[in-house]
Amino acid sequence: MSRRPILAGNWKMHHTHLDAIQVVQKLSYQVDPKTYDDVDVVVCPTFTALRSVQTTLEADRIPIQLGAQDVHWEEHGAFTGEVSPTMLEKLNVAYVIVGHSERRELFGETDDNVNKKVQAVLAHGMTPILCVGETLDEREAGQTQAKVTGQVRAGLAGVKAEVAATVVLAYEPIWAIGTGKNATSEDANETIGQIRAEVREMFGAGTASEIRIQYGGSVKPGNIGELMEMPEIDGALVGGASLDPDDFARIIRYRD
Ligand code: 13P
Repeated sequence: MSRRPILAGNWKMHHTHLDAIQVVQKLSYQVDPKTYDDVDVVVCPTFTALRSVQTTLEADRIPIQLGAQDVHWEEHGAFTGEVSPTMLEKLNVAYVIVGHSERRELFGETDDNVNKKVQAVLAHGMTPILCVGETLDEREAGQTQAKVTGQVRAGLAGVKAEVAATVVLAYEPIWAIGTGKNATSEDANETIGQIRAEVREMFGAGTASEIRIQYGGSVKPGNIGELMEMPEIDGALVGGASLDPDDFARIIRYRD
């Protein structure tokens, strides 16, 4: 089956709301609106820029979808510094990155937290982009498959098969993030194939053939083409190169 490609820009802790408005406007000038007929394009600004980007996309009718970089699983409460799924839903946020390796490694996010967030995002009609990936040590010890399939299993625990089919998974080898060292397209394709096989075991062949799995880690205009040619790779989660509208536009136009 053919899955609709999805290219998402994770801006991490970059771009004020003023910069963010300029970036989406510049991006929109550089991408033919017809491009969006065949590919989902998502930008994930910081929380402080979500509202500004939302109003820019809506006012200028730019068919880019809005994503957030994290969420708390509770609706509201005494959770200083957190943002709830209801708050994101009200901003027309369509996608929420959950379990990014930076949240797991730097902020102590556990598989259990990640699972609660996935469930909360789904319960609010938004789509999680559930991130998984191994460290360099784990890769060198031959533990890549065990690590990523374990994270997928834990992250999607308790999710129904038909709902799981709508989730986006992102395979991001930690050693490839922000390092300029990307996984080869063959290696990324192989691990993503293993992730899809795990989804098949958990939810059946239908869900496995529908679920979209991105690659992330030093994706650039120069390597997006060969990554997207791989049969298992359905898109990319782009960090550094998505900050620059020229580079991200070239990634979005990978077919040209
Ligand atoms: P880079 O594209 O900067 O390597 O970041 C990847 C990433 O972590 C996206 O979530």
